[in-house]
Amino acid sequence: MDDLTDPAHPDLRAGLLRLYREFFDLAERRRRWSLADDIPWAEVNRAMDPAVADVVESFCAVELYLPDYIAKALPLIRANRGWAWFHANWGYEESKHSLALGDWLLRSGLRSDEQMADLESQVFAGEWALPHDNARAMLIYAMIQEQATFIHYRNLRVHAERCGDPALTKLLSLIATDERAHHAFYARVVRLFLDLDRPGTLEQLGRILHTFAMPAVHLLADGARRAARVRALGIFDEMTYLREVYHPILETLGVQRAEVRRSAFSVLPASTAAQSSAGRPG
Ligand SMILES: [Fe+2]
Ligand SMILES: [Fe+2]
Repeated sequence: MDDLTDPAHPDLRAGLLRLYREFFDLAERRRRWSLADDIPWAEVNRAMDPAVADVVESFCAVELYLPDYIAKALPLIRANRGWAWFHANWGYEESKHSLALGDWLLRSGLRSDEQMADLESQVFAGEWALPHDNARAMLIYAMIQEQATFIHYRNLRVHAERCGDPALTKLLSLIATDERAHHAFYARVVRLFLDLDRPGTLEQLGRILHTFAMPAVHLLADGARRAARVRALGIFDEMTYLREVYHPILETLGVQRAEVRRSAFSVLPASTAAQSSAGRPG
């Protein structure tokens, strides 16, 4: 097989299976948590700041697109067992996130069963579509998205602590730890791709880093308002992206900024390259 980036390539199959077994063994030993037993549900703050609950609800909505995240990505990687098994395990872990966030919203008294059913109806009214059509690009997107998601939860946790809600604080730290582990796995796989095809992987990395947007929230009718609330609470904005996502990822991958700048713009016509660089992370 000539295409080194085809998920069915023997080197990628062997590499992914090894990385997945390491990921899985570590997750089983250190990272499994129980929705019922590990969150101090009796300590939910029933007088929580509604602005915090709004953001919890938005994050819950993003997690609720799980059927699309699983169903649409799996066909790209089904011929690679380690990668497909990772995706199945990832789906299990992600499924707990929306359960935990939804349970908290109900127990806080800030959302009713009817409101949660409405949220689900809104989510399932529209499908999330893959932002990229090939496995390597989706891998790079997922690596960035998991780091960004980790930062979102970590920063929301600060508000949970400030408002004195030990249940929300604990569940956000459990979720953040999962997201961080997902990011770390994907980053290791991206390194594998860099070893196999550095120029092609750098080209995609540059393009995706420079056009990244969080998934799904824009699919909701009030997506813009939800995104504004995330910014208003100081949880995530463009500067956060540069400082906590863009630069740390380059460092983790051992990639210089100049390498992705060159690669990103080499795929654009000369006239659009300069325009595209305006307002983008540098
Ligand atoms: Fe998640
Ligand atoms: Fe995740």
